[in-house]
Order: sequence, then C-alpha cells, then structure tokens
Amino acid sequence: MRKIAISFFKGGAAKSSSAIELSSSLSKLGAEVLLVDTDLDGQIAKLLKLNPRHSLTHILKGLIGPQEAITHTKWGFDVIGSDRDLIKVDAVTEKRSRLRNALSPIKGYDHVIFDTSPNYGMMSANVLDYADTMIVPVELSPASRDRLANIYNELDEARITNPKLFIRGILPVKYRRRESSQQAHYEQLKRDFKDVFEPIPFSCVIEQAQCAGMPVTIKYPNHPISQAYILLAKQIKED
Ligand SMILES: Nc1ncnc2c1ncn2[C@@H]1O[C@H](COP(=O)(O)OP(=O)(O)O)[C@@H](O)[C@H]1O
Ligand SMILES: [Mg+2]
Repeated sequence: MRKIAISFFKGGAAKSSSAIELSSSLSKLGAEVLLVDTDLDGQIAKLLKLNPRHSLTHILKGLIGPQEAITHTKWGFDVIGSDRDLIKVDAVTEKRSRLRNALSPIKGYDHVIFDTSPNYGMMSANVLDYADTMIVPVELSPASRDRLANIYNELDEARITNPKLFIRGILPVKYRRRESSQQAHYEQLKRDFKDVFEPIPFSCVIEQAQCAGMPVTIKYPNHPISQAYILLAKQIKED
C-alpha cells in the first residue's frame, strides 16, 4: 500500500484538485484508491459534493475506527473527509505517529492519497511521518520556487523518523504554455530539480467540473488536463 502526500505548504497550488484527479485517474487505471483529506478546509468532500457522516477528526479522536469513516464514491475511489473540528485534534497530533496509528487498520488499497494543509503544522508533520511518497504541485512563479527550498527542509525533518519518505516529483500546475514567462519558469524548474512531471495545463474546465461536483478526469476525460493527470497516474502506477 503506497501512501502519497500531495504537499506544498502554499494555498491555491492545486493540491486538492491534484489529489482528486490523481485518485480518479489511478482508479480509472484499475487501482484501489483511498483519498484522505487532512486539511481542515474539508475541500475534498465539498468539491465532490459528498456528505460524509464521519471525518478524520472522529478517527483521530478515537470515536470510530477508520473503516467507518470511508465514503465510497461512484467514480471508483474511496474518501475519508475532513472538517474544521480537525483544529481541535491538534493536541492529539502532537505526536507525529498519531495519524499512522489511527489509520493502521486500513488495508486493501493500492494507493492512499493525502490532501494536505497549506500550512506546515502538526497535522502535516503527521502526514509526512506516515507517507512514503511526496508529490509537490507548484504553480510556475518565482514565489513558488522560493518555497520549494523550504519543502526540502520539511522533508529532511520528516526523514529523521521516516527515512523512507522521498519526493517522487515536482508537478507543475496551471501551466499556460503560450506565455513565455511560464515556459521560462518550467525550463528553470527542470534545470533545478531532476524529477519534474509533465505540466498540468491551466484551464477553467477544472472549475466547471468542480462546480458539477465531479473529477475533471470523469466529466471531461479527453481534455488535455485529464490526459495530463492520467499520464501522471500511469507513471505512479508503473513505479
Ligand atoms: N489546472 C488548473 N487550471 C485552472 N485552475 C485550476 C487548475 N487546478 C486547480 N485550479 C483552481 O485553482 C484553485 C485552487 O485549487 P485547489 O486545488 O483548491 O488548491 P489548494 O488545495 O492547493 O489550495 C481552485 O479554484 C481550482 O479550481
Ligand atoms: Mg486544498
């Protein structure tokens, strides 16, 4: 069971969108996938128009077992949602191993995908203690490049207790291929980092799909965005 954190400590970097689309794409390729929301925004359930009765908060508080919080979606993958009360379990996540212990009864998935918070707090530290793989979605801007250096610091810290964690790749998102500044940022990124995935193009179809409460890879399966996420999923599945 591979545990993949979609992490970049910045809002609006398409973390939640990429977590949904990677889950949907892996599932389309035949994998068993569980998507776990660890951000107190609860975006995953909102974007998919799910109404889960239980959330990660209930699991971390020890009120229910993780299996009871799983919602099956009609697109093949399963979801554990989150809510604002997650902020109240910060105290119990003081121990980095809290999430790992709470989710340890979960078995039978090929991939567990974690959507993460834009802030590096104890919840994120818990995710990085449990995950084995990180995918880092970044917008192509100078601000993102500066922050990328920080993520390597977080990685180093997490690897003290979880040495098998590694960054599988940087995922450029919202790529506007016709803009020369975007092309320049992308080329620079490839020079700076060895594992850079094919970029996910910018398109408003993703918002249209999200308004309809669906993954774009389901609503618009032939759109270049969907093809880019399927290509990413193929690479992950073939590892
Ligand atoms: N490839 C894309 N093209 C255009 N808009 C996108 C793309 N990916 C995500 N978005 C939009 O960007 C915004 C932030 O995305 P989101 O996934 O919520 O980011 P995060 O979880 O990192 O805060 C959302 O409005 C989403 O619809
Ligand atoms: Mg998000």
